[in-house]
Amino acid sequence: MPADLLDLNRIPRHIACVMDGNGRWAQARGLPRTEGHRAGEHSLFDVVDACLEIGVEWLTVYAFSTENWRRPRDEVRFLINFNEEILLRRRDELNERGVRIRFVGRRDWRVPKRLIRRMDEASELTEKNRKLTFTIAFNYGGRAEIVDAVRRIAASGTAPEKITESTIARNLYDPQMPDPDLVIRTSGEYRISNFLLWELAYSELVFTDTPWPEFQRREFFAAIREFQDRDRRFGGVDGGG
Ligand code: IPE
Ligand code: IPE
Ligand code: MG
Repeated sequence: MPADLLDLNRIPRHIACVMDGNGRWAQARGLPRTEGHRAGEHSLFDVVDACLEIGVEWLTVYAFSTENWRRPRDEVRFLINFNEEILLRRRDELNERGVRIRFVGRRDWRVPKRLIRRMDEASELTEKNRKLTFTIAFNYGGRAEIVDAVRRIAASGTAPEKITESTIARNLYDPQMPDPDLVIRTSGEYRISNFLLWELAYSELVFTDTPWPEFQRREFFAAIREFQDRDRRFGGVDGGG
């Protein structure tokens, strides 16, 4: 679907993607799972391009979950190195295109210091950009994020009766991040897998059977079209009132 079929006045402000199906895509071709992750890079940057084209302000992608450490050691190592390599290879181009790179996730002992350094470099390099905020969720878990927020609130000595939803929202990994309007998950799995649990309370969800390495902007635009056909009520009734 081409972009001109979209209502440009109702482009979601924040789109989040669960980039799923890399491993199965590769295995179906007789390739090692890691080749699927490699092939997914093309889709990721096609989606970034599409966001820049139509003016999406925030794009968040799930790159590695707090549960993905359960995978075979070689695959985990590949994913760490590949993420680092992509950051190095793509950061200048993203910077020139006005993309602000950010990260959400737990920075625990399992994340190599070198990768953390690359993350910080990419964030600092691009921090003044405003066209698109591109957030990479790495070693991210929605429950861990809420636990970390609660720990910070408890450590601050806030009285329990003073804790509101906005106290929690202010203590998430990126307090500036607006809640996603649209969440897209590829590869035919109909679940959230611990992604943005707090933030997606009222997000519209779109699932597609296409594996991530085959997901391209045409389908991305189709998901946005589907979003535009939905009626968001936020617990109210049609027509307000
Ligand atoms: C998503 O693809 C990428 C990551 C989780 C890092 P998968 O690796 O989960 O691919 P499938 O779901 O096993 O096919
Ligand atoms: C979610 O996909 C995590 C990422 C895409 C990074 P998974 O493939 O890990 O999720 P499950 O295991 O199918 O729920
Ligand atoms: Mg998967």
